[in-house]
Amino acid sequence: MIDSNLRDRAGRRVTLRPVDDDNWRAVADVVPRDDQRAWVYPMAARYLLLSARGDVWTSLAVYADEAVVGHVMWGVDDDGSRWIGGMVVDAAEQGRGVGAATVTTLATWLAAQPGCTAVRLSYHPANTAAAALYSRLGFTPTGETDDGELVTELPVEGRRDGGAALRGARRAGGAG
Ligand SMILES: CC(C)(COP(=O)(O)OP(=O)(O)OC[C@H]1O[C@@H](n2cnc3c(N)ncnc32)[C@H](O)[C@@H]1OP(=O)(O)O)[C@@H](O)C(=O)NCCC(=O)NCCS
Repeated sequence: MIDSNLRDRAGRRVTLRPVDDDNWRAVADVVPRDDQRAWVYPMAARYLLLSARGDVWTSLAVYADEAVVGHVMWGVDDDGSRWIGGMVVDAAEQGRGVGAATVTTLATWLAAQPGCTAVRLSYHPANTAAAALYSRLGFTPTGETDDGELVTELPVEGRRDGGAALRGARRAGGAG
């Protein structure tokens, strides 16, 4: 379990857990709002298959207390940067601080991994909810685009003295 001790605005503890035999159905059923289908797959099942059938991504179940409320996945690029993808909070659970807590928790955990140089993600420039979320957490554009999406990153500091720290996400405070 990945746990940064953050809570959503309803006071629920937001944690990230492996997808397993017990929770995969609930994760597969996570859906964005209809008007968000332009930015992400229409159901998280598609991301689960992407993770299961390739060796690039690892899916995680997003929990609010003991309820599955979202999906997120992570991967490692050749340059050591860690990527966050497949971020979907179930339509019924959006706007409660789950997204902010999820990104902060995952970015903090990834930044602490040996060899991590940066935490990156990309989003479509017209996805205003994603743009607001990520910029609030300190992700800044690298100037690159990937398949029409803006690439942004949180630089990782402090590697030389053994403790990685993220510039931005912790300061922004997530939803805790
Ligand atoms: C983007 C997404 C993950 C945010 O999750 P969430 O749980 O609703 O986000 P939070 O409640 O933690 O909100 C965090 C910030 O996001 C922004 N935000 C969230 N929903 C928003 C909306 N509908 N419009 C504008 N900004 C929004 C706000 O800046 C918000 O900060 P605030 O609460 O201080 O105002 C969610 O909207 C989602 O699943 N969207 C569909 C999938 C998607 O676009 N994923 C990102 C692909 S890169």
